[in-house]
Amino acid sequence: MNRAVNRAAKRAVNAARKLLPRTLRARLIAGLLVLLVVTCAAVGLATAAALRHFLVDRLDQQLTEAGGRYAASLEHTGTGAGPDTRAQTPGTLGVRLLDGRVTAAGVVDGDADDADNPDDEDDRVAFSPAQQHALAALPVGGPAGTLDLGRTLGRYRVRAVAGRDGDVLVSGLPLRPAEDTVERLETLELTVFAIAVAAAGAAGAVWVGWSLRPLRRVVGMAERVSALPLASGAVMLAERVPDDDPRTEVGRVGAALNRMLGHVGDALARRHAVEERLRAFAADASHELRTPVATVRGHAELALRHPGDVPAPVRHSLERIDAEALRMGAIVEDLLLLARLDAGRPLAEAEVDLTRVALNAVADARAAGPGHRWRLALPEEPVLVSGDEHRLSQVVANLLANARTHIPPGTGVELSLEPADGHVELTVTDEGPGIAPELLDRVFERFVRGDRARSRATGSTGLGLAIVHAVVQAHGGTVTVASRPGRTSFTVRLPGARPARPARPA
Ligand SMILES: Nc1ncnc2c1ncn2[C@@H]1O[C@H](COP(=O)(O)OP(=O)(O)O)[C@@H](O)[C@H]1O
Ligand SMILES: [Mg+2]
Repeated sequence: MNRAVNRAAKRAVNAARKLLPRTLRARLIAGLLVLLVVTCAAVGLATAAALRHFLVDRLDQQLTEAGGRYAASLEHTGTGAGPDTRAQTPGTLGVRLLDGRVTAAGVVDGDADDADNPDDEDDRVAFSPAQQHALAALPVGGPAGTLDLGRTLGRYRVRAVAGRDGDVLVSGLPLRPAEDTVERLETLELTVFAIAVAAAGAAGAVWVGWSLRPLRRVVGMAERVSALPLASGAVMLAERVPDDDPRTEVGRVGAALNRMLGHVGDALARRHAVEERLRAFAADASHELRTPVATVRGHAELALRHPGDVPAPVRHSLERIDAEALRMGAIVEDLLLLARLDAGRPLAEAEVDLTRVALNAVADARAAGPGHRWRLALPEEPVLVSGDEHRLSQVVANLLANARTHIPPGTGVELSLEPADGHVELTVTDEGPGIAPELLDRVFERFVRGDRARSRATGSTGLGLAIVHAVVQAHGGTVTVASRPGRTSFTVRLPGARPARPARPA
């Protein structure tokens, strides 16, 4: 029971919250308008009530002054004297009661001619039993009361006084003029207030909008900064909020934001410097290693070609030195390439026929791995992209080499090429056992490889897919992998060749 009530209350609060305007601007304007409407309503009600009170008071005073004069004069109707209407305000009511019953009643007609016609039917009033009862109930000599005399006469202020011969004389004055005046005031106030609220709404919208300008500037700046690519590389955080006056609320936010941007900018600059140093180190180290590695290989080969007897263990050692130096050279080349791609070194840019690249790569793979079943699916038309042919060949070769080295012979591998709305899709799909899920997410990272022990023997370094990723990215493309047992596919998406640019004059 209690919980149901709670839930209903929560729902009501939520509904109310939904009704509230969302933006600060709309909320401020709505608040202003609500306040203004409440104030206007209060002022309107108070002035109308005060005016009504004042007018009714005046009527009561008039009634007191008039006493029962008109009612008393009604007595003489029929005797020829006629009621004394001349001194009375038009609409004045006179009633004479005897023992609680009306014996005579009249209303002063506004028509001047009627003054001479005492027996005019219009001057006579008939009362319903309820009205008679109300008249009889009036306290004699007491304060005035209000009596409803139906549609034509409307409401009256009435007051009873004791007559001379045991009767009760009631005089009344119509409330209608007073009610009309109050109504007119109400109409006037309603008009004036409606105009005032509309004008205040319009002016308030402009004013609030103007006052919130600094906030909009801060928001705009924050949005621009949040759209900046802050994840890596050199970042210029030059943006600052112009509103940083600490005496205003927005200024304090702006100043804090500016300080924060300063700190973030410093941190990003430091990070960039570290990244640069690391990159330079990797590039320098691999570059420096090239020559000694080549020298080691050269000497190993020279020693192997030594004429005459070389003991078998020495020959074996020399062969191992040669093979490992070869591997080391390949790793050094890969590292150097990655360092160069990281540094954003521009690649060669020429029109590359991917169809030919694919043909060559599959032919090479077939020669290197005759145990696998290689398939090639090419479109009729040559597929062109713009980029570095040598690097793109390396991408395809790395993908095919993985299929060759990481899955057992006898397995089918297919390379397909397909142009797709401004892009080119190159897919290498194999029917191998697949890539372990825990490896799949990190497979494009450097030095990430499957079975470490087995891989080392097959010449695995974990750099192949990292190079694929870096080269494809440098070409403005993407590479994705999907793998399940029996089907692993790497998809490279490259932007299609741009229309050939006019040759620059040499
Ligand atoms: N076609 C594939 N089938 C199964 N595993 C694969 C395939 N391609 C890549 N892998 C896994 O991803 C790892 C990373 O590949 P890669 O970056 O080329 O390094 P490497 O080939 O030198 O080991 C590999 O060690 C292997 O475990
Ligand atoms: Mg590989």
